[in-house]
Amino acid sequence: MKVEDVEKIYKKISEQMSSIVVGKADVVENLFIGLLADGHILLEGVPGIAKTYLARNFSIALGCDFKRIQFTPDLLPMDILGSNIYNQKSGKFEFKEGPIFANIVLADEINRAPPKTQSALLECMQERQVTIEGKTYELPKPFMVIATQNPIELEGTYPLPEAQIDRFLMRLLMGYPVNKEEEVEILRRRNVGEKYSDAVVSAEKINDVQKVVRTIEVDEKVKGYISDLVIHTRKHNDLLLGGSPRASIALQEAAKVRAAIMGRDFVTPDDVKSLITPVLNHRLILKPEIEIGGKSILNVIDEVTSAVHVPR
Ligand SMILES: Nc1ncnc2c1ncn2[C@@H]1O[C@H](COP(=O)(O)OP(=O)(O)O)[C@@H](O)[C@H]1O
Ligand SMILES: [Mg+2]
Repeated sequence: MKVEDVEKIYKKISEQMSSIVVGKADVVENLFIGLLADGHILLEGVPGIAKTYLARNFSIALGCDFKRIQFTPDLLPMDILGSNIYNQKSGKFEFKEGPIFANIVLADEINRAPPKTQSALLECMQERQVTIEGKTYELPKPFMVIATQNPIELEGTYPLPEAQIDRFLMRLLMGYPVNKEEEVEILRRRNVGEKYSDAVVSAEKINDVQKVVRTIEVDEKVKGYISDLVIHTRKHNDLLLGGSPRASIALQEAAKVRAAIMGRDFVTPDDVKSLITPVLNHRLILKPEIEIGGKSILNVIDEVTSAVHVPR
């Protein structure tokens, strides 16, 4: 497989998805980048904007297994991971896989479950395996968690700690339809009945694509650009916390995938630029007084982006 094939596969996915979900092409692009970069995604937005619908159709289009886990206050780690269950016939305990054993796992409303359950999920995200009573089970490949959060629902929720938020490659902020045309188109499609996408790729193909992504080159100048951006966030007056080296690595990995889906075998500064917001927005913390003043993380990211020199 070559980068041109990666571009073709991405086109197939984005065409399929746009026939199902109205708008949201940026979310689809970034989800695909996340999957190929071996990352996990935090999807944030109010209810009813098709977070679940988009994630489900994305998995179907990819030809991947999909499981949805609704996070609730009484969800236990074993409800995610699985557990050993006694088999009457064989007289033995047998491991029954939990819903985490899928290519794409939608962890819906992740902040509704208590920290212990969130930690179980985050551990799987990192280790890509599950250990139960000393036995280890590998998770399938590819493996990606899409966790959703409602940004305005705070009562009775357990916000993810900063150290855990950092484990997500990107946080995507999903909004309302951008105009009346989109809203009307949603109504039109809904009238025909809720549609599901066709599988246009397969899990095996995705694994091959990931191999191609690993061969993408990153020029010293582009590495310098990524470093300048992240270092700038550490010095920014409005920020309490800037980006860590994990943020720099994330930016580089995501940019490599973006290059590949555009059919290039090298990263350009534009690849990096288009990923600064989704890769950095959840890793930076504003000083409280700045937040009270009405400035947002997105404003600061814009400032950083325009302040840092872009190499040619
Ligand atoms: N952009 C969109 N394109 C197509 N359908 C949409 C869109 N936004 C909302 N819908 C419709 O609204 C329904 C609600 O979406 P859902 O995925 O349950 O929302 P959420 O998970 O964000 O609460 C979807 O099943 C779909 O029929
Ligand atoms: Mg939902």
